[in-house]
Amino acid sequence: MKAMAQTSWAAGTPLALLELPTPEPRAGEVRVRVHAASVNPVDWKMRQSGPLRLAARLIGPPPPVVPGVDFSGTVDAVGPKVTGVAVGDAVVGGVNFSRGQRGSYAEYVIVRPDQICVLPTGFDLDVAGGLGVVGATAWMAVVEMARIGAGQRVAVLGASGGVGQMCVQIAARVRGAFVAGVCSARNTGLVTGLGANVVIDYGEGDALEQLRAHGPFDLIVDCAGGYSGPRCRALLAKGGKHVMVAGDSPLAMAQVLVPPFSSRPILGVITGARMRPLVDAIAAGQVKLTIAQRFPLTAAEEALKLSEGARMTGKILLMP
Ligand SMILES: NC(=O)c1ccc[n+]([C@@H]2O[C@H](COP(=O)([O-])OP(=O)(O)OC[C@H]3O[C@@H](n4cnc5c(N)ncnc54)[C@H](OP(=O)(O)O)[C@@H]3O)[C@@H](O)[C@H]2O)c1
Repeated sequence: MKAMAQTSWAAGTPLALLELPTPEPRAGEVRVRVHAASVNPVDWKMRQSGPLRLAARLIGPPPPVVPGVDFSGTVDAVGPKVTGVAVGDAVVGGVNFSRGQRGSYAEYVIVRPDQICVLPTGFDLDVAGGLGVVGATAWMAVVEMARIGAGQRVAVLGASGGVGQMCVQIAARVRGAFVAGVCSARNTGLVTGLGANVVIDYGEGDALEQLRAHGPFDLIVDCAGGYSGPRCRALLAKGGKHVMVAGDSPLAMAQVLVPPFSSRPILGVITGARMRPLVDAIAAGQVKLTIAQRFPLTAAEEALKLSEGARMTGKILLMP
């Protein structure tokens, strides 16, 4: 199979189109023919020196390194002892490096059934291709960690990005919360359209100060990074949570040790169970996923550079 991969972990190793053996599913595994993989910041962060590369090196398979976490596609082979999934099923899902699986910048991926969700007939495979990382991360933050319900108050820092857009929509439209979104001036209309009740332009002055009038919050989810932990915690209601989606530095992680222990890091993990309610919400027209740009798989480096600019207002897809 064709894959965009780097032959070693050395920083700066370019991605090249490699011909790798097409993987065979073992017992309990399925093989998916990838329709689309999306580009996420973790894909370029794990190629640079830092904690994400160290983690990927320690837990992931040996080189060649195939980046890419999420995908949509069609199941094309099923190993022994697999139930509930059949050849021909259209699916959305994510690979798991800690299970020794290679990434989704490839024609095929191997996953276990709990990592995929079978899509309803007619579901747009492009939309599904962008959903995995942003959807799972936002679902974990809003629903699993903060258990946000109707009438509660949520602030989303970085509301116009991939994860931010999902957080706004899940909080406002799926859970019925009051949502304040923080983004740049050019994206205020976008964030309002996703269901935010209040949109704050961080270019107008200190965003956390502007948020004060709309709190206290039951959840502040930071999808941008760079916002002060203590100042976020000061805007929380009693029992509220500050969830750090962005911010993978040791300094950011140290926030969890500060009383009243309301700051939490998050590691988005794609499971079929997390994808199911999101797929249903998209199918019902309640949640939207915006696709910003599609690239052929061979243009992965160009697509990664675009993501690195951190000015995307939708998902970048790679189409093998
Ligand atoms: N922990 C996890 O499991 C996990 C999972 C997914 C992503 N992440 C991390 O979360 C971050 C966002 O990921 P993503 O996929 O959503 O990225 P993205 O789609 O590239 O979005 C980045 C967004 O950040 C916004 N932004 C930049 N500076 C800002 C500021 N000062 N205040 C508010 N917004 C600002 C930009 O919007 P404007 O142009 O409107 O400023 C842009 O839309 C990345 O750091 C990524 O590594 C972590």
